[in-house]
Parts: sequence; structure tokens; C-alpha cells
Amino acid sequence: MNWKFNNESKYKKVLDKAKEEKRADIHSFHRYYGKLIPAIPRAYIELFTKKGNTVADLFSGSGTVAVESKLLERHFIGCEINPLASFISNVKTHTYDIDLLNNFNKQIEIYLYDFEYTNRLKKGKVPFCVNLDHWFRKEVVDDLLIIKATVNEVVSSSKLKKTDKQLYIEFYDAVISSIIRNVSNADPRHVFPGISKRIRTLEAEGKINKDAKKSFVHAIKKKTKYFADYQNLEETNIKIINGDSVNDKFTKYKNSVDLFVTNPPYISSVRYIETMKLEMYWLEYLKNQTEYSNLAKIMVGNDKVAKKDIDNNLLTPYPEINEKIQQLREIDSKSAYIVAKYFNDMEKVIKNMHLMLKNNGKVVVKISESKIKKIKIDTGKFLTIIAENNGFKLVDVFLDEINENRRSLTTARNTYSDIILNDNIIIWEKSENE
Ligand SMILES: C[S@@+](CC[C@H](N)C(=O)[O-])C[C@H]1O[C@@H](n2cnc3c(N)ncnc32)[C@H](O)[C@@H]1O
Repeated sequence: MNWKFNNESKYKKVLDKAKEEKRADIHSFHRYYGKLIPAIPRAYIELFTKKGNTVADLFSGSGTVAVESKLLERHFIGCEINPLASFISNVKTHTYDIDLLNNFNKQIEIYLYDFEYTNRLKKGKVPFCVNLDHWFRKEVVDDLLIIKATVNEVVSSSKLKKTDKQLYIEFYDAVISSIIRNVSNADPRHVFPGISKRIRTLEAEGKINKDAKKSFVHAIKKKTKYFADYQNLEETNIKIINGDSVNDKFTKYKNSVDLFVTNPPYISSVRYIETMKLEMYWLEYLKNQTEYSNLAKIMVGNDKVAKKDIDNNLLTPYPEINEKIQQLREIDSKSAYIVAKYFNDMEKVIKNMHLMLKNNGKVVVKISESKIKKIKIDTGKFLTIIAENNGFKLVDVFLDEINENRRSLTTARNTYSDIILNDNIIIWEKSENE
């Protein structure tokens, strides 16, 4: 394997050019930490595929690759373990009737400020949320219940078919999710929900005003406009599965994908679900704490490992990776186990990608090197060693600058992986003689 960063890569030039283009507004629909910059899928979907081809991502997150596939009129297959993220990406890739949304928006706004209406409205139950009073003011909780009930009534009383009603209710649920962090007491600037000193000071100065109805009405109008970009597109098939890319079977999609664009989780990186826990509680994707920890445990690269579950003999089939694992094991057995498990899990995902890809299909991976307990792990290189053993060949690799969005993530990384070093963009190809 010729693992050398290619500064002159023609693929880097293609990406740099795509970065100059304006990104579609729909990408701002909902926050998600660790989002891919849209220029990455855009550049390589345009370069490696044609209209009507199929793009895929087995770590589809909030749907950046899905959205770009749709905008460029490609079909898309995604898989994402986080139910809220897969829900959001399904909403983000649906073609809504904008006139209909605007009509609903008007009715919802009128009803939300009609107190006779809201007084007689049958509101639902407050969803389960650990420390609800800590995270939400009482009036915010009341307003959120009123919003949800109003949306349900307005959409349900329309003439739409039952299945379409559900799709429109989902749009409004996704908007509710998108405002949760801002109407909660948590500092919106922080990656993990927390009530910061800054927020306490502003609160003491009376500068914090939480108005869920106002935030919601503003958001539905703004986010409706984002869907304008889809209006004249050729309809394509966008399928996003809420599943586990390590252990699920993808035989149904054998030889059907032209291109993968993906950024896998980092080793022991940001606990994605913690960053989204308020939204997940509110939308009832987590109904108790057990569900929370069960989900955390099956995420690739997670650090939620109980002492009794640490396997001190776990290695990979690859001597170069094992050398690092052994080195780490001398310092900290938990970290060694996390790293070994990460590469074993990633091997299963690489096999799934190989199965799904057509011959000569490409995989574009964005990943960064990690430092764990001061030991550098060349994640991109190691994943390439695994890929080459599973029917891929390396086409090119280059370094990409870490963008601002990612920098905020860097500071949020936990003690196991203290910094993100360089971002690698790696291109593999499914070799013909496989
Ligand atoms: C770096 S993020 C991808 C972000 C995405 N590209 C975007 O723009 O939103 C990695 C994703 O992998 C997901 N993930 C972790 N383990 C998974 C698994 N076993 N199966 C499927 N998805 C998984 C995480 O929930 C997270 O959303």
C-alpha cells in the first residue's frame, strides 16, 4: 500500500472548487455535531456518478450525503443508528408541497395565539425527560405541548390522505426538535447540554427570554423555504434505514451502489446521543435511561464500556493495528479494548460497503487521526489496510483543513481522544478482480 498524503491530488482540487459554492439552506434544518461539510458529497457525487445512479452512506447521521444526493438527482441508501438523526434526515429529504406547508403555517400561527382555542385544546402528556425542571421552564413545557397538539389538530383536520398527514406532522415534529435546545435552559453554544456560567449570568440580568411559540412560528416559516430547492427535481428514491451498519445485513442491496461518501465516527469520540439528548427525550426516541445507555453502547467507537466487559485479549487480524493496541494495553486496558473493538466493527462495515458496491464503485471516506492516551492512531491508514484486505484498492489520500464547525467539536472530545489531528480524505475503489 502506498500511504502518502498527496498534496497535488486532483481530487483535492475538485473539493476545493466545490467548497466555493453556496451550500443549500436545507443543511441548516437541524443542528447535528460532526456534520460533514456538504461540499464533500457534492464534489464526489458529481465527479464519480451520473443522474439516476445510487449513492450510499452507512453512517448517514443528519443526512448531509442524502440531501446532496437528492439535490443532484441520485438515489440514496443510508443507515444510521440514532433514531432521531435518521428521522431528521428522512424529513430533510422529503419533497413537501410548499403551498400546503404555508397554509398550515398560517393556521397554526393563528391558533397558537387564540387563547380560547388553546384553552380547550386536548394536550398530550409531558414526555419522559431526566430532570425535566432543570432543563425546561414550566411555561416552555406548556407551550411545547400546545404546539404539538395544535399541529396535530390542524394537520389531522385537513383533507390529506392519512399517510400524507403523517408526513406533514413529521415536518412539524422535526421543527419542534430543532428549537428544543434554544428553548431549553441549556447553553445553545455548548456541544453537550449544560447550564453554563454565561447563561446563569444572563438569567440573573433578566436577559433570557424563552418563548417557544415565537421560536416555533419563526422556525416553521424559515424552514418551509428551505424545501424550495427540491421543487423541480426529478424524483429519486431516498431510503434511510434506522439500523446498525455493523451487524445488520445489506444483501438486499448487493451490487447496487455506485458511490459511498461517508464519515465514520471517530474512536471514542463525541457521544453523539448525549449532544442530542434533550431533543431525543422530547420526541420520545428515548423513553427511559436504559434506552439511552443501550443506544450509547452499540454506537461504533463509543467509550461506554463497563469494566466487566473489557476483553483484554481482543486484537484485530492486522499486525500493524495490533501493535498500537498492545502499546495502549500497557497504559490503559479500556482504551486498548475500545480501539480494538472500533477496528473490528469498522471491518464489518467495510465488508458491507463492499457487498453493496458495484464493481469499480468508489468509497470516499473522511476521517481524522486520533490521539488516545497520547498514542497516535492513524485511523485512515488502518482503515485502508482493512479495506485493502477486503477487496478495495487505495486510489488517493490527501489532507483536508479542519473547518470551524469541527473545531468546536474538537474541544468537546472526551478524555480518551484528546485532539483531532488531521482530517484525511481517502478514496478507495472496489477492485475488478475481486
Ligand atoms: C460523523 S457522524 C456522521 C455525520 C453525517 N455525515 C452528517 O453529516 O450528519 C457518524 C454517525 O455514525 C452513527 N453511527 C454510530 N454507530 C453506528 C452504527 N453501528 N450503525 C449506524 N450508524 C452508526 C452515529 O450516530 C453518527 O451519526
